[in-house]
Amino acid sequence: MNLLLIGNGGREHALAWKMAQSPLCTQLFIAPGNPGTSQFGTNVDININNPDALAAFLLRENIEMMVVGPEAPLAAGLIDKMQALPELRHIAFIGPTLDGARLEWSKDFAKAFMQRHHIPTAAYQTFTAERYEEALQFLRTLNPPYVLKADGLAAGKGVIITSDFETAANELKDMLIGRRFGEASARVVIEEYLDGIELSVFVLTDGKNYVLLPEAKDYKRIGEGDTGPNTGGMGSVSPVPFADSVFMNKVEEKIIKPTVEGLAAEGIPYVGFIFFGLMNVAGNPYVIEYNVRMGDPETEVVMPRLKSDLVEMMLKAAHGGLNNYRVEILPDAASCVMIVSGGYPGNYNTGFPITGLENIKKCNLFHAGTRLKDDTLVTAGGRVIAVSALGSSLPQALEIAYSNAEKIQFQGKYFRRDIGKDLLNP
Ligand code: AMP
Ligand code: GLY
Repeated sequence: MNLLLIGNGGREHALAWKMAQSPLCTQLFIAPGNPGTSQFGTNVDININNPDALAAFLLRENIEMMVVGPEAPLAAGLIDKMQALPELRHIAFIGPTLDGARLEWSKDFAKAFMQRHHIPTAAYQTFTAERYEEALQFLRTLNPPYVLKADGLAAGKGVIITSDFETAANELKDMLIGRRFGEASARVVIEEYLDGIELSVFVLTDGKNYVLLPEAKDYKRIGEGDTGPNTGGMGSVSPVPFADSVFMNKVEEKIIKPTVEGLAAEGIPYVGFIFFGLMNVAGNPYVIEYNVRMGDPETEVVMPRLKSDLVEMMLKAAHGGLNNYRVEILPDAASCVMIVSGGYPGNYNTGFPITGLENIKKCNLFHAGTRLKDDTLVTAGGRVIAVSALGSSLPQALEIAYSNAEKIQFQGKYFRRDIGKDLLNP
């Protein structure tokens, strides 16, 4: 069958790589894709914000399943628009409609949803500008560090954590009254700080049943030892040693099942991935956030460990058939090292030629921010290439990823050298 994947990052390259391996896949299209995805399918330049143009493409290319990688099209109602067109009724869509995507595009909704379904998460309250004074009062009742979150999507920048009360109060004012993130900060969630270790857990659900994918840990800060500003993600590993069967059993019983059942109980249909951003607090999992898509760079370690046929699994999800689906996971460890542009996540230059790719051995390179300039591969973003390796153990997977990361060259290249180290000698 013919498939369309939407997106253009390292996550989509990893998904394209995996989807193209399926015997069910005849032709894969990626919109817009990147130079990496073009090795596994045809990159197409269609405007996904134009439902008519997208629908025409789906019909013309006889697409039977469309998979959405990033959250923005989901939060813009892309699936709703496609499902409203009767001529597309035969097409399977992977990604939730606006109602389900709300778990990610409204933190206030996500918190209230968790409260309704008794899903462990940090205690919180939500405030609007009219209640600024009350918000300040609430902040005073909390112990530092203070956690403030813009309700809406803010390109990963909407969370502020500070131990200083004055800073927190100023940030709060800036968000609520100054509308620092526009409409996204018209509401601000103030919540209790959770002290623990983070991990990312993923499921694919048909709205009733779910399949558990390999868990992963990502490294968000730019600097070694988890220092400096947040980035889109500087690397990832899977499996996560502390996510043993006792812990994962708690995750399924206290978090995953109530979430999937809660969506169904509220009449919210959901076909797609749910990404549970979790904190392990003294052996107990708490939800920090929901995302309604796979993680990036987590997908770059999750897909290599997935033995099952992803296309088959997604088709089953679209047709409500995930009950009794047995997912097969490789026992190997996977690691991913993200190579980024110098200056990222601040200002950086692009257009620098990337060399050394011909020397890469025993690993996958997933392109995140590259483009072809004439016939030369050049940098085109902050995160440039994810080097992803499998090994029989985490140290081996890291060694392979790092030995290959050394071989890739471009002006200003930077990567963290401590991915996974905290898990080797905890
Ligand atoms: P988010 O954008 O929701 O992923 O938040 C960004 C980061 O802030 C998370 O990955 C956590 O590291 C941190 N964070 C968010 N909420 C909390 C919390 N309640 N307690 C501690 N850390 C948090
Ligand atoms: N790696 C975190 C995210 O994709 O949001």
